[in-house]
Amino acid sequence: MTTDTAAQAAYVVAALLFILSLAGLSQHRTSRSGVVWGIAGMVVALAATVGLASRSITATGLVLIAVATALGAGVGLWRARVVEMTGMPELIAIMHSLVGLAATFVGWNGYLDVDAELSGSLLGIHHAEVFIGVFIGAVTFTGSVVAYLKLSARINSRPLTLPGKHVLNIGALVAFVALTVAFVVRPNMGLLIAVTVIALALGAHLVASIGGGDMPVVVSMLNSYSGWAAAASGFLLANNLLIVTGALVGSSGAYLSYIMCKAMNRSFISVIAGGFGTPAAAADEGEQGEHREINAEETAELLGSATSVIITPGYGMAVAQAQYPVAELARKLRDRGVDVRFGIHPVAGRLPGHMNVLLAEANVPYDIVLEMDEINDDFAATSVVLVIGANDTVNPAATDNPSSPIAGMPVLHVWEASDVIVFKRSMAAGYAGVQNPLFFRENTQMLFGDARQRVEDILRSLDSLDAPVRELADTAR
Ligand code: TAP
Repeated sequence: MTTDTAAQAAYVVAALLFILSLAGLSQHRTSRSGVVWGIAGMVVALAATVGLASRSITATGLVLIAVATALGAGVGLWRARVVEMTGMPELIAIMHSLVGLAATFVGWNGYLDVDAELSGSLLGIHHAEVFIGVFIGAVTFTGSVVAYLKLSARINSRPLTLPGKHVLNIGALVAFVALTVAFVVRPNMGLLIAVTVIALALGAHLVASIGGGDMPVVVSMLNSYSGWAAAASGFLLANNLLIVTGALVGSSGAYLSYIMCKAMNRSFISVIAGGFGTPAAAADEGEQGEHREINAEETAELLGSATSVIITPGYGMAVAQAQYPVAELARKLRDRGVDVRFGIHPVAGRLPGHMNVLLAEANVPYDIVLEMDEINDDFAATSVVLVIGANDTVNPAATDNPSSPIAGMPVLHVWEASDVIVFKRSMAAGYAGVQNPLFFRENTQMLFGDARQRVEDILRSLDSLDAPVRELADTAR
């Protein structure tokens, strides 16, 4: 078997491993094995690519590859070890930016280093590949950098509304098509510089125009773009595995974005077109009345007399790392005979499945963790809802205020319960930057402070509530 045939066979194996990985990652029970399949696929892919390249590369080239691999692996390991769960979306965004940058460089290299054997229509196809690869890569690069800045709160998450923003976006796409034709007919560096600049500006503008509430979809859209950018590089480098892998990432990212748009009642086209057709975001309306406060002891008493409790966690639970005391609270209440369940919003937290991962980490049984659609009709018959660090995902304005920036987004109907306790540190708005009328409802009480500390306080208060009961039982014996 020649090196080439062996490498192509290894590519098929790696592609199958990547498909198994995607299948594993689609459910949290199997996600660990999904990651293992992915690692195995990448090891096979890297070994086969280096083996293939070693035929035509000098010893210095091989050393450079080894150094680059060690550096990349070192940085990757370091970032993965130190990143907080809450910092995952921005890490993912910045990783996507690197894929975009790499695709842009591969495209530029494809222009500067044309294969001498290409001629006629093949050369035309090559130049089209260069142009498309640079365009997708540059859009992905700046789009991901802006997403990183928004997700890490380095810039405001409010949508940028330049005058005529949709005309600007459509103008950039029309210019791209016209320049591609011109480049295929008469390739030159001026056109390549022009498309690079237009794509860099378009990527930044598309993502800057999207509001905070739609950022989950943007992250998965950029995931998809990075896949297509990699596939474009695969065509240029004549690497079949890069084409297949890029297409897998591109299509699965697009499908995830579609699912998330459906879950959030958003138009897929509107989000990918930089908020096309969505109303301009209204300003934060500020406080909307009086709010009532409750303390941990009173909350424990309320829970002590409850028959059913639903816990709806959000980003604040992740920030406070409150999942462990929350799991302990659920266990204690269940031991007392209270029906306890968790209601998970599809975009609670900062990445898909964020809350499920945290609750699984704290050993909360899967069967009491329900999706929004499974639990939304049950709030009306529930004694107490504990909103732990959630805000946008429990905002009634989404259902009853058509001018709200989050109007139409399905939310957890927590306000239908008899009592709602909201755990947060202040009256500040959630990620989408809109005030939450839930906090001013008659059946809502605010429990201020760090969610972890407050839940631990409740656990202590529950213990002291139980103590007299235990003493009475001991005396009776
Ligand atoms: P958010 O609307 O982000 O609100 C979280 C709340 O937690 C804040 O109001 C904050 O209030 C509170 N908080 C923060 N730290 C806390 C702590 N240590 N203890 C107690 N409370 C704390 O949360 P959500 O309901 O989960 O909604 C998620 C939002 O993020 C949505 O708008 C969604 O579109 C967006 N988003 C989601 C994703 C994915 S894929 N899930 C990705 C990007 C963006 P205080 O500051 O007053 O404490």
